[in-house]
Amino acid sequence: MRRKLAAGNWKMNGTAGALSELVELAKHVKPGDAETLICPPAPLLYLACEKLRGTAIAIGAQDCHIEASGAYTGDISAPMVADTGATYVILGHSERRDAHDETNADIAAKTRAAWGAGLTAIICIGESGADREEDKTLDVIAAQLAGSVPENASGQNSVIAYEPIWAIGTGKTPTLDQIVEVHDFIRARLNDRFGQETGDTIRLLYGGSVKSENAAEIFTAENVDGALVGGASLKAADFAPIIKALSRA
Ligand code: PGA
Repeated sequence: MRRKLAAGNWKMNGTAGALSELVELAKHVKPGDAETLICPPAPLLYLACEKLRGTAIAIGAQDCHIEASGAYTGDISAPMVADTGATYVILGHSERRDAHDETNADIAAKTRAAWGAGLTAIICIGESGADREEDKTLDVIAAQLAGSVPENASGQNSVIAYEPIWAIGTGKTPTLDQIVEVHDFIRARLNDRFGQETGDTIRLLYGGSVKSENAAEIFTAENVDGALVGGASLKAADFAPIIKALSRA
């Protein structure tokens, strides 16, 4: 019922030459595979969409502003993202929550802006290492879900990415039991809030040090509908096996 989604987050990596990796990746993604998305840096969005036209790979941005236009030097609005041909936007990544002081309320506002432009929001949540050590993981997740996910979220307009901050770019991953616990908790919260008919359609991605070596095990979890992949999405040779593992799951 929920289509699997393999999403790559290039972060601040790649100039136009890196798009050859996308063209290469497109050769590996076959009809019937998991939905595949790459979120390159904003200056590459338009060119990436042009190069991938007619392929199965979708393109997304890594952030958007809450306003559609105005005096916000350096920012990019959701309609601008949509205008490039992109269809998704990552919001509330921990690197933005941390380095740009984004709050749950900011992320909810950005999500509404994304929806207004017809984009699907990938809303990121996740606990810090200290939260986990202090046994606060589920409380943090509950608060982030309540604050960052607006009313009227649906499987059509939203995806939730669970990314424990301590697992991002560190090579550390939670145990499968820990991933299952959080994903089942998120599913239950969404069902409580939006009703099961809607809650069950919202895809839940796991993110944080996903690689071809650990992907298949992570994808065995019932409420893991895909992955948000950083480092291992930069090269087609690394990302393609993750997409294949998800497609088989
Ligand atoms: P990573 O990043 O796969 O390099 O750990 C994931 C992310 O930050 O989305």
